Amino acid sequence: MRLSVRLFSSVVQKRPFYITTPIFYVNAAPHLGHLYSAVVADAIQRFEKLVNPDCRVIFSTGTDEHGTKVQQAAAKANLPLQEYCSNISKEYRDLFRDFEVGYTDYIRTTDDKHKKAVKYFWRKLVKNDYIYKAKYAGWYSVNDEAFVPETHTKDEITKEGKVKVSIESGHRVEWTEETNYMFRLSAFKTHLQEWLKTDGVIQPSKFQKQLQEFLANSTYFPDISVSRPSSRVHWAIQVPDDEEQSIYVWLDALINYLTVTGYPDEDLMKSRRAWPPDVHVVGKDILKFHGIYWPAFLMAARWHPPRKIVCHSHWTVDGSKMSKSLGNVVAPSSVPAPSALRYMLLREATMADDANYSETKLINIANSELADTLGNLASRATGAALNPRGEFPALHPHELTACISRQATADLLDRLERLPEICHQHYTNYQFYKVVDSVIHVLHLANLFFETMRPWDLKKKPECHKELDVILHLTLETLRICSIILQPIIPSMACKLLDKLQIPNDARHWEHCMKPSWRVEGAIFETKNIQSGKFLLFQRIYSDKKKIHKKTASG
Ligand code: MSP
Repeated sequence: MRLSVRLFSSVVQKRPFYITTPIFYVNAAPHLGHLYSAVVADAIQRFEKLVNPDCRVIFSTGTDEHGTKVQQAAAKANLPLQEYCSNISKEYRDLFRDFEVGYTDYIRTTDDKHKKAVKYFWRKLVKNDYIYKAKYAGWYSVNDEAFVPETHTKDEITKEGKVKVSIESGHRVEWTEETNYMFRLSAFKTHLQEWLKTDGVIQPSKFQKQLQEFLANSTYFPDISVSRPSSRVHWAIQVPDDEEQSIYVWLDALINYLTVTGYPDEDLMKSRRAWPPDVHVVGKDILKFHGIYWPAFLMAARWHPPRKIVCHSHWTVDGSKMSKSLGNVVAPSSVPAPSALRYMLLREATMADDANYSETKLINIANSELADTLGNLASRATGAALNPRGEFPALHPHELTACISRQATADLLDRLERLPEICHQHYTNYQFYKVVDSVIHVLHLANLFFETMRPWDLKKKPECHKELDVILHLTLETLRICSIILQPIIPSMACKLLDKLQIPNDARHWEHCMKPSWRVEGAIFETKNIQSGKFLLFQRIYSDKKKIHKKTASG
């Protein structure tokens, strides 16, 4: 089989950076795991803009609203389907507003433009002869909205007796016999294997290997069903020219990535130049859909597969999988410090392995790093006790040289100078935890430097004020550089700190953190004003909020 793919070469606009989150099921309210997929994508796009401020970013997210799961959830909530979907979809929008997920496009699979795109795509698959009708008999998991091969199921004894579950997800499967439309997935095995040889196409590499092994071990690589009888799944997009069949929710959902780019209006797509996407961010549970099915669907419709899939692992809660039945689902707005949650998610998790959430961990990290290491240093260096005129003081060369001769200064400056390059590398590898580790390490050195130099003693001696200026300058310069670097991780906190230092908006890009003040040749550092007023970056949290609240209430 020959595949010709369409890549637009005509220069209409500069190519944008196109990044996506998965679209979220509306069968339940958002939780911490959903938020994680979204903040990972958001941090990636913010870093892209930080490094490349002129870059046009398309950052899409939204909600996946069709299918049995949603049908059942709306019935349980006793609400009309569209109203139910709109309510949960709004919860996601609110979540993204609260956690600074700065998407440019919000898509719902119930949008008319999306339905049109799905039908058009379906017709393309039919036209290219990748769809045929057949009798399907097999196991189906409503929870995963996926057909599960017999070999991927196992028996489990529950209160209701023996049931079959999917080995991969642990969700129950039901025997299903129906007439479906099938997609010729089997025709794409070699093409997928070729595509999966592309260096770095799935990151981290562990997940790329998983997919390669999955294909290598699949001696039987069957076609897949891409429709369900409308009698069973009525809340779905209908198969064109066949009212009795609904389009499989995963095919419907994946096409959202095309809808965002203007599909099926090819002129619009040509002018936007967004296809193929630069990054799809996905969780490991949906890797197969994105790394096997989606590229195969795209190849069948003659479109390029995505440039890269960034796959993350999962969050557990107090050591257990998050689940409704265990009652441990964490709603992001209910945690003790919502404003620190985004920081913790990006600071704690590695992409390759699962991370564990606990309230204690959140509080400890927020207090020790945001309130103490970063916030407290900023308050001290800008506060009235040491800095009564509210200044970003000048650098005095003679005092600077003297200051550098001290070990604590040399350690700080050495590490700070290397910090941007180190962090750039970590961001590029999507290792946010390493970015934060490196920044926090520098901030520890800055705190040590501050303690060692005892600026409060110098403050008392007018003849030492130039030395004091240098200490304040180096501390504020450290804070400026760290804040610029942290913008993708904690956007509004970093902004608050940069505002305090009166750093203009057009001086907050990556290039502005690459050289500390004392390395900028020929630059004259005059005293500048900083914003007046007491500075509090992050209010410490007390673990037993109720007790504290009670104490205050009873006086
Ligand atoms: N609707 C599909 C995606 C379709 S995209 C074309 C879906 N939705 S979901 O709401 O179930 O999941 C959305 C994202 O949340 C996925 O990336 C998933 O991995 C992520 N998470 C759900 N639970 C999670 C954790 N416990 N931890 C981290 N992320 C997890 O799948």
